[in-house]
Amino acid sequence: MDTLQEIEKQKEYINQIKKINENKSLKYTILTFGCQLNENDSEKICGMVEEMGYKYTDNFKEANLAIFNTCCVRENAEDRLFGKLGELKRIKEENNMIIAIGGCMMQEKHIIEKIHESYPFVDIIFGTHTLHKLPEDILKILVNHKKLQDVIDIDGKVYEGLPIKRESNLKASVTIMYGCNNFCTYCIVPYVRGRERSRHPKDILEEIEGLAKEGYKEITLLGQNVNSYLVAENWQNLGKSYRGVNSFATLLREVNKIQGIERIRFVSPHPKDFTDDVIEAIADCEKVCKLVHLPLQSGSSKVLKSMNRKYTKKQYLDLVEKMRAKIPNLTLSTDIIVGFAGETEEDFEDTLDVVRKVGFEQVYMFIYSIREGTPGAKMENQIPDNIKHKRFDRLKELVESQIEEDNKKYIGTVQEILVEGKSKNNENTYTGRTDSNKVVILDETEDITGKLIKVKIVSEHMWYLKGTIIRRGEN
Ligand code: 5AD
Ligand code: SF4
Repeated sequence: MDTLQEIEKQKEYINQIKKINENKSLKYTILTFGCQLNENDSEKICGMVEEMGYKYTDNFKEANLAIFNTCCVRENAEDRLFGKLGELKRIKEENNMIIAIGGCMMQEKHIIEKIHESYPFVDIIFGTHTLHKLPEDILKILVNHKKLQDVIDIDGKVYEGLPIKRESNLKASVTIMYGCNNFCTYCIVPYVRGRERSRHPKDILEEIEGLAKEGYKEITLLGQNVNSYLVAENWQNLGKSYRGVNSFATLLREVNKIQGIERIRFVSPHPKDFTDDVIEAIADCEKVCKLVHLPLQSGSSKVLKSMNRKYTKKQYLDLVEKMRAKIPNLTLSTDIIVGFAGETEEDFEDTLDVVRKVGFEQVYMFIYSIREGTPGAKMENQIPDNIKHKRFDRLKELVESQIEEDNKKYIGTVQEILVEGKSKNNENTYTGRTDSNKVVILDETEDITGKLIKVKIVSEHMWYLKGTIIRRGEN
């Protein structure tokens, strides 16, 4: 069966469930762990489940269907999942709740075994390649009342046309490729998400054009390794390029032309795939934000080698320099892992050195978490927890002092901000973001949600800036 027929079949199951659920006012809840790709998957899950007739609640106690979309990149998400499952046992008995767990963690055999042993009341286990079959799985539970496991190891196909319920009506994520071929030695993702598969540009561009028509202003292109989009081996019958798109750079250029879209972001690129055509596209395309996320992971060439990152400290710094020369107003954010196996004090100093030299706008810092099944787990010289934590604190201190300094540079400057809506804690202010993703708070009474406006920055605070509007945008 081809993918289109498969999705039609699932839509038929959705209708059958809708009939079963009619007049029952059923509710669902969902807990999402992990990255933006998982959040985007959850939006698809919510889209399917709402069409089945379930309404969202954030209260587990009143849910008839509870879904967990899991992540296994670091250990702490596991602890949170199992803690929550423990709590649910009693609630499940009280209101006959269906419990479904999916996502990356379900691609790990030892986790599935643990669920069977310790949480036998879980109804559905689905994997990263079977998300689109959730309607079929739920229908089976409703009809047969038997637990089921729907996980496959082979790489999933790319399924188009699932319903989706988006979190925001201004900013939308669009997954452009799935999986990863890089096998960084610390990372579990290639084992649970499979090999790289790119979506066809026709599907991507049509999705974004649809979003623009609905009023979305900001698009984030997502992929585990977003700039390795795409070798078109899986497009044989669709042609190797569409509207001139046959690479990440050409995709950026084509999305840039879509009327109504004001901002384009993308995560996460790999430095090794940051080719000149991508740099040029960022520089040329006025809608592509000049904040680039460029995961460093470590500043030590020795650690980078054992992480299988395929670049050295010098190559990373050279790339930053080249990008700065070609992209005016470039800002950078990054991911750093502290305490990878074999990381010496000197190696860690190299990481601090890169952070000082580059001056990142934002740093996502992680303590190395040993992942069973990865080469990193078998490496000798694992770093004791106390040293990992001390290094993490030192890095955090440096990053925070840099952010404070960086914020000061904004005072007096004019920034273009996309207004996201009223501030959560204050009725009289609006919140927006700069191109560099800094939060800006504005005093304003008129509804300016969704507008792209020019703002003068008047003061800085650790996690946000304050500004005053100087000129209204056209839209
Ligand atoms: N331990 C800690 N951090 C990790 N990451 C990936 N795997 C691990 C791990 N085992 C981090 C990397 C990656 C980000 C999404 O998560 O920095 O870029
Ligand atoms: Fe993991 Fe490396 Fe692939 Fe990113 S590029 S998903 S860190 S293996």
